[in-house]
Amino acid sequence: MRVLVIGSGGREHALCRSLKLDPQVSELHCAPGNAGIAEIATLHDVVPTDPRQVAELAGRLGADLVVVGPEAPLVAGVADAVRAGGIPCFGPGRQAAMLEGSKAFAKDIMNAAGVPTARSRTCTTREEARRALEEFGAPYVVKDDGLAAGKGVVVTGDLDTALEHAEACERVVIEEFLDGPEVSLFALCDGSTAVALQPAQDFKRAYDGDEGPNTGGMGAYTPLPWAPDGLSEQVMREVVHPTVDELARRGLPYNGVLYVGLALTSKGPKVIEFNARFGDPETQVVLDRLETPLAGVLMACATGALAHQPPLTYREGSAVAVVVAAENYPADPVKGDVITGLEPTEHAYVLHAGTAAKEGRTVSAGGRVLAVVGTGPDQESARNNAYELVGRVRLRGSHHRTDIAR
Ligand code: AMP
Ligand code: GLY
Repeated sequence: MRVLVIGSGGREHALCRSLKLDPQVSELHCAPGNAGIAEIATLHDVVPTDPRQVAELAGRLGADLVVVGPEAPLVAGVADAVRAGGIPCFGPGRQAAMLEGSKAFAKDIMNAAGVPTARSRTCTTREEARRALEEFGAPYVVKDDGLAAGKGVVVTGDLDTALEHAEACERVVIEEFLDGPEVSLFALCDGSTAVALQPAQDFKRAYDGDEGPNTGGMGAYTPLPWAPDGLSEQVMREVVHPTVDELARRGLPYNGVLYVGLALTSKGPKVIEFNARFGDPETQVVLDRLETPLAGVLMACATGALAHQPPLTYREGSAVAVVVAAENYPADPVKGDVITGLEPTEHAYVLHAGTAAKEGRTVSAGGRVLAVVGTGPDQESARNNAYELVGRVRLRGSHHRTDIAR
């Protein structure tokens, strides 16, 4: 099978790593990729959000399957263009990807499907925003309606800060604050059938103890030993199946991964957000544990054959990912510094995110530079193995959290 992966982050490195390990995969391509992906796949220089360029590349390579990683290409219609060219694609089309591309659309689908989520109001004026903020009270949750690369959500106890964010955005969703631990659950979907992957937890704040600004994610681990029994089944029943059915009813069959961000509240799991793609860095740990060869599963999603797949299997034990971020991430990350100490150890390895190759060396090229994945028979050993390798990575000015999975 010839597979083309679109994207250039840690999630795409994890996807490529798992695809490379699948004996069904004869050729692996990635566009645009990064320095780590270049070691296992052939890179191509295309603009990942340009549907025409991506479809043309897939056709030229004779790809059997295209896997679209990030949200921006999905919302731009890359999956539609690939499918229009007759090539199976893992990833929702432009309209279904609006589950992530518009918080208001996601809320509309959830309400129509009876999915448990925070009560919300969609607002376009300061007056509407003020009324909604007063209705729900503090802590205030204000979300930019559109894609904002992880910077769209403000959770604050301060009314003026909440109003300021609402005013800075054209349209916002204001909603009630959900209290409880957060879980990321990925469901693989083929348009009608959906299957859950093992739940993971992400660490969104930049600094230890959940302090500091929101980020794309500073670390993750799986499995979750503390998660209630039957959590995945409950979320599939109450969230994923009703959502996929509602989309299909609207003529928008959902094909790809539905990322369900949940708060486990005292009244049960409620949806914080939907994403139309794998989470980063949760994917790095979930795919590490997934034993079932990946290409066959993604192909089954892309071709509507998920119902015929045997149940997914996982490796025993735990995986922990620790993100190493560039100096001054997330505000304004410093780029172009040399990175060393990337060699794997017996139970840990590096997945690249914001890296590039320059004159034979690996240099930083993004905010989240890499993730170290450690594995072990239990969470503690996996964490120790991850941090041991984090300690060997050298990148001037870099920072990481020291409390992932603790
Ligand atoms: P998002 O960009 O939608 O992932 O939101 C970023 C983070 O904001 C989430 O991971 C939560 O920690 C927090 N958040 C979003 N919505 C809510 C909510 N309704 N209640 C509490 N926290 C929230
Ligand atoms: N780790 C959170 C995300 O991918 O959005």
